[in-house]
Amino acid sequence: MPFGAAKSQAGAIAAAEASSGGLTMAKTKTLDDLFLDTLKDIYFAEKQILKALPKMARAAQSEEGKSGFLHHRDETQGQIERLEQVFEFLGKPARGKTCEAIQGIIAEGEEIIEEYNGSDALDAGLISSAQAVEHYEIARYGTLIAWANQLGLKDAVALLEANLAEEVATDEKLTALAGSQANVKAMGTASAK
Ligand SMILES: [Fe+2]
Repeated sequence: MPFGAAKSQAGAIAAAEASSGGLTMAKTKTLDDLFLDTLKDIYFAEKQILKALPKMARAAQSEEGKSGFLHHRDETQGQIERLEQVFEFLGKPARGKTCEAIQGIIAEGEEIIEEYNGSDALDAGLISSAQAVEHYEIARYGTLIAWANQLGLKDAVALLEANLAEEVATDEKLTALAGSQANVKAMGTASAK
């Protein structure tokens, strides 16, 4: 092959790689990248939830609701610290990545606080948005645990499982609170008038 031909072939390959841009880069991504990106997602989400929970506690009408949200706020602080330990195991800085899903779920919760303010249905609505948050987190932790197992990150698995257990317990408490009080109250007295 003439020297010039080899040179132009190399040039063509370089041009093709440049034109495919992100695609070439994306091809090199692996489960490690997915794990880190999703860890950043839940780290961002937990921090947003930490800010939202005191607002939900203030809004809740029942004492059980208020104390439940505040208790989970404290748990969330601990969950954030566990996630920071996972980043440390990976040798990566603890950094969040904007999670539009959690922003949307929290925004819907704020909408309920505004629209149901003062009504008998407020707590049932608050519990429903808190459960949407918990289920998002449960989905994320389930995936992260599976990936951490696959990647052989034993220490990370234990920390993520501790967070998952708290989310599941919170979800169950919310179900109980809705069933024992909030849903009944939300039926309102309006229909009895
Ligand atoms: Fe959480």
